[in-house]
Amino acid sequence: MSNLDLNVHNHLDEGTEALRADVREGLSAATKWLPPKWFYDARGSELFEEITTLPEYYPTRAEREILTREAAEIARVTAARTLVELGSGSSEKTRLLLDSLRAHGSLGEFVPLDVSSSALNAAAEAITAEYPGLSVHGVVGDFTEHLELLPGARPRLVAFLGGTIGNFLPAERSKFLRSVRDVLDEGEWLLLGTDLVKNPDVLIRAYDDAAGVTAEFNRNVLRVINARLGADFDPDRFAHESYWDAERSWIEMRLRAKEDLTVRIPGAGMEVWFAEGEYVRTEISAKFRPGQVRDELADAGFALERWWTDAENRFGVSLARSVRA
Ligand code: AVJ
Repeated sequence: MSNLDLNVHNHLDEGTEALRADVREGLSAATKWLPPKWFYDARGSELFEEITTLPEYYPTRAEREILTREAAEIARVTAARTLVELGSGSSEKTRLLLDSLRAHGSLGEFVPLDVSSSALNAAAEAITAEYPGLSVHGVVGDFTEHLELLPGARPRLVAFLGGTIGNFLPAERSKFLRSVRDVLDEGEWLLLGTDLVKNPDVLIRAYDDAAGVTAEFNRNVLRVINARLGADFDPDRFAHESYWDAERSWIEMRLRAKEDLTVRIPGAGMEVWFAEGEYVRTEISAKFRPGQVRDELADAGFALERWWTDAENRFGVSLARSVRA
């Protein structure tokens, strides 16, 4: 089947323009930074899939344990007719939800939204084949910008899994939750995955695995900038770091220059100088306390209906109902 048979809409045609703007802003800042969404070209999405299988990277397994246990309950409580998945990636955990919603008899439509068109196309194609009668409406987009376009029969269940909400800074996070609330009618649903605060050694290792896959994933953002903006980053001249910021309760991934470097980025019309030891912050991944999740959901207009953790209390999944505009 060709991708044209799938109903996939791409809102990222100006993606290179957005990357250019992010690179210009982030790499001219006093402390350099890049947004994590630019990891995810085809190779970056594959590397992330590999990360989810690493012994150190527990969040995927912990969340899968919860969803396996609670999928039927999620279908029973929500009776959702549409499953919307934000940042769906390979949509692997989604199958647990699709299966339970189908068994419950309410499901008619699946709307995966992802920044990676390669990951989205593969997932949309596989799910179209596996779920006859399900209407699949893929959306290539950034979930901070393209939420207003979400289709689907009510009630919808918006799933935002994996702990990806941790990629937002606190102010962006509350804005994001409000924007999800704004596209939902009262009584529609949010299923949210949040990684939890735990022993810093465990957290740090989850983002600095022994096999070096996360290091390659981190450096991939430099390869993306090379490919799309004609830059001449040498990824090997940057060291991967995983840093736990206890005060702000987040893991930071960094790329630290091993020597003084000048990098040309013609597509962004800039040259960037790195002093030896200077770093770029490439991702934050916030870790939560249970009560904090409830409070942040309430502030955004969601009532927490269910809260589940895995047996080791490493990861939390919230099921919340939108309660007011
Ligand atoms: C996909 C954003 C949930 O923050 O744990 C994995 C990305 N970065 N290893 C995370 C990631 C490094 C992941 N999320």
